[in-house]
Amino acid sequence: MEFSVKSGSPEKQRSACIVVGVFEPRRLTAVAEQLDDISGGYISNLLRRGDLEGKAGQMLLLHHVPNVLSERVLLVGCGKERELDERQYKQIISKTIKTLNETGSMEAVCFLTELHVKGRDTYWKVRQAVESTQDSLYTFLKLKTKRGEPRRPLRKMVFNVPTRRELSTGEQAIEHGLAVAHGVRVAKDVANMPPNICNPAYLLEQAKELAESHDRITVEAVGEKQMEELGMHSYLAVGRGSHNESIMSIIHYRGADSEQAPIVLVGKGLTFDSGGISLKPGDGMDEMKYDMGGAAGVLGVMNSLAKMNLPLNVIGVLAGCENMPDANAYRPGDILTTMSGQTVEVLNTDAEGRLVLCDALTYVERFEPEAVIDVATLTGACVIALGKYASGVMSTHNPLAHELLNASEQSGDKAWRLPLWDEYQEQIESPFADMANIGGRPAGTITAACFLSRFTKKYNWAHMDIAGTAWVSGKNKGATGRPVPMLSQFLLNRAGVNTDN
Ligand code: BES
Ligand code: MN
Ligand code: ZN
Repeated sequence: MEFSVKSGSPEKQRSACIVVGVFEPRRLTAVAEQLDDISGGYISNLLRRGDLEGKAGQMLLLHHVPNVLSERVLLVGCGKERELDERQYKQIISKTIKTLNETGSMEAVCFLTELHVKGRDTYWKVRQAVESTQDSLYTFLKLKTKRGEPRRPLRKMVFNVPTRRELSTGEQAIEHGLAVAHGVRVAKDVANMPPNICNPAYLLEQAKELAESHDRITVEAVGEKQMEELGMHSYLAVGRGSHNESIMSIIHYRGADSEQAPIVLVGKGLTFDSGGISLKPGDGMDEMKYDMGGAAGVLGVMNSLAKMNLPLNVIGVLAGCENMPDANAYRPGDILTTMSGQTVEVLNTDAEGRLVLCDALTYVERFEPEAVIDVATLTGACVIALGKYASGVMSTHNPLAHELLNASEQSGDKAWRLPLWDEYQEQIESPFADMANIGGRPAGTITAACFLSRFTKKYNWAHMDIAGTAWVSGKNKGATGRPVPMLSQFLLNRAGVNTDN
């Protein structure tokens, strides 16, 4: 898909389609008004006859509007003018794109980017338009033998900005939007891949593919033999019931001089989580292929980063592993010695993510990181607490937590902080080991983070629980690519790039 920005008046556009908004009730936007004028009231006549009320998401496609140079005009309902917020804006864009894609316009000039959205500027509107467009056109058809693709798919979008002065802002927004959208797509693709194909070795291949096309990127792999030597017995225990080797893939992005301490992103990469001996119920178990959503997100962010070429050092870790029941599998009651030397009593083999992450988090100490952020589909409790709209953020370092929440706010990739108070720590005490791997039903998301916090004392650390946000269930089942937008924004901010133009 090709994007560009333009600053022009609607009647001068010669395109397959021109997209303009109509507010509720039947109120033309300024641009729609201009088209109405030159067409001799053609549009207002239609509205008067009741063809379009202007409710958010309503679409009316017109052909050969008198005196208009473009072949089609798509009228888009934008709801009540004063109620147009971010969520509605994104919904309108996404519906518009789907309509265009299905009705034969291969290109369009869109004036919706000129709408007033509370508290947001042109940069934001164009960038979100690009991201929403790519998001709504995404399909995963790699494994279908019969693909029903549209006959004349949308190829080119032009977003209009109010003044020529804003053209360069708009161009920046497109560039950033495309970089983020690319990372989101990579994350979706790898996460949607089935677990018989996407195993820890597959994650490594994806990392290597990225490295091949960028000289700033290199990849190393830590396999089971090396984990043994490093004493990563907790990570190894989780993968012991699987025939797929556990592999931790490490992606180095070097965009700044080597003295600059890196930002480290660690993704939980359970390519399938059956629960192990503490087997999960069968209903919906297929969705546990998404238990590598954290690793997918990290891979996605590294892809965005490579596109943006930011002057930072960033290390992405994909903690690949598969949790299966087997005669060789680890069991409830086992006591594991982690790489840190601390011991863990396993009370439930389904609380495996933290067992993999704790060793990965100890491993990354060697990079002397500026900050470490781990990303994980860690707890079902997080889905109960925050649902599918917000990722959970927990941190022992307030400035880092605030940075993440700001990035979330800016990118529209929602997140919410949960407390990490010491009081919760006692829930994971064990009579036999330094800690247990579960903390009971209350505050399950927080006690999981408490567990991780015992392995992250040597650096500034934050944890993101994306159990509710990494994919959607139901008839539109699929990966979302979250939290790639938020983490890409975090990196843009760290690099000092101004995105509030
Ligand atoms: N990957 C799951 C968490 C999960 C469950 C994410 C459902 C998204 C949807 C994790 O490994 C897990 O099984 N956690 C257990 C922890 C429990 C045993 C303390 C859970 O949440 O039930
Ligand atoms: Mn589990
Ligand atoms: Zn899991």
